[in-house]
Amino acid sequence: MLYIGIDLGTSAVKLLMMDETGKIEKIVSKEYPLYFPHPGWSEQNPYDWYDKTMEGLAELLDGCDRSKVAGISFGGQMHGLVILDADDNVIRPAILWNDGRTTKETDYLNQVIGKEKLSSYTANIAFAGFTAPKILWVKENEPENFAKICKIMLPKDYLAYRLSGTFCTDVSDASGMLLMDVKNRCWSKEMMDICQITEAQLPKLYESYECVGTLKSEIASQLGLSDKVVIAAGAGDNAAAAVGTGTVGDGMCNISLGTSGTIFISSDKFGVDRFNALHAFAHADGHYHLMGCMLSAASCNKWWMDGIIGTKDYAAEQAQITKLGENHVYFLPYLMGERSPHNDPAARGTFIGMTMDTNRADMTQAVLEGVAFGLRDSLEVAKSLGIKITRTKISGGGARSPLWKKIIANIMGLYVDVTESEEGPSMGGAMLAMVACGAYKSVEEAAAAIVKVVDTVEPDPELVEKYNARYEQFRQIYPTVKELFPKIS
Ligand code: XUL
Repeated sequence: MLYIGIDLGTSAVKLLMMDETGKIEKIVSKEYPLYFPHPGWSEQNPYDWYDKTMEGLAELLDGCDRSKVAGISFGGQMHGLVILDADDNVIRPAILWNDGRTTKETDYLNQVIGKEKLSSYTANIAFAGFTAPKILWVKENEPENFAKICKIMLPKDYLAYRLSGTFCTDVSDASGMLLMDVKNRCWSKEMMDICQITEAQLPKLYESYECVGTLKSEIASQLGLSDKVVIAAGAGDNAAAAVGTGTVGDGMCNISLGTSGTIFISSDKFGVDRFNALHAFAHADGHYHLMGCMLSAASCNKWWMDGIIGTKDYAAEQAQITKLGENHVYFLPYLMGERSPHNDPAARGTFIGMTMDTNRADMTQAVLEGVAFGLRDSLEVAKSLGIKITRTKISGGGARSPLWKKIIANIMGLYVDVTESEEGPSMGGAMLAMVACGAYKSVEEAAAAIVKVVDTVEPDPELVEKYNARYEQFRQIYPTVKELFPKIS
């Protein structure tokens, strides 16, 4: 049979079709615009997501035996606020995960309600990109829109709703709303009261691998598919990527180098760190995970390559980089502010350390290294909790660069296991659909059968030592310049 995974990303929707042995039949990608209506704001139009997904599905299905398609599921950009009115119209553009407008609401939640209470209700504190502060922002700034809200959902849930008619979400994605009691996998009454919303406005919670319904008959006939095609709840893109790289069960790690950069640690048991520096979320395998999230990762490289130096030839540019561990230029990758571990929407990108002999390759290298140092910041938090990680999987567009993988392995001091495909979220989505259709009994079973490690990038002890010294410099830069950011942004 065939299964479709839909990765609803920030720059594009990626659709992947595979069979239950893991053989990828086809991948299609469709871009849509991203809007920055004010500095630090980030929005998208949910209608674009749906239109491009339907276009992508038509292309994906073209030439395939449609009678073999058994299930569809999702990995979706997390935290985005999608609100619908009583007639299911989208009320306003979606406010995305990397939007920094909610400083006031985030401060109110963390300081007036208090971090301790938030953590006891949801296992997390407020970060600017989370959904609950955005609901408060709409209430305060757009009361006419707030009054119209009938349904609140996350980006991928809008697709599930349009395709199946079921108003649903899954526990991994819902964890990032700051509305869910993560430990008990249910909505938090306290958080609904704080946001002045009701459970009727929130989607029904499912495990990521559960069937939420089947394809609506009009959509099925539009696509030439059966209306028995199963729609599974799916997962937030990081949990879906973890499934797609086999980061399931206990103590496994995945690094995602997409628009955002994340370090994801799977865990059998629920756990929270004392300062809530890492997100404590439900996993798509039925258990839990901890995660650190940088708001700009591969997007820093794209900004530098396409936007600043004006090239599309990333490989040629990276071929000029020869002095690993010796760069005197540092880059703070905070182009959209930063989430983990600084929780600072005002932080900005910064180059420091240039001299007259600094060249273009040093700057490019600093960008790649800055992202890796930022990920190490979150790894250090995990280590301080006593979590022992020696190896990681890697996924996302940035994982296609051999040089970046080498930099990550050596800055983080980890063995980097490379899987056959770096298509984390869409592959994870397809695997969740397989479990929902009964092709596998559990997510773990699907991962064991499908995910294959094809290479390992080993850290080189000498280089690790050099990078340890550089990291000590890097970690001093943000505290030194942090007070400046609110003044210059
Ligand atoms: C995770 C996060 C990002 C988005 C990217 O907390 O905000 O990784 O999910 O799509």
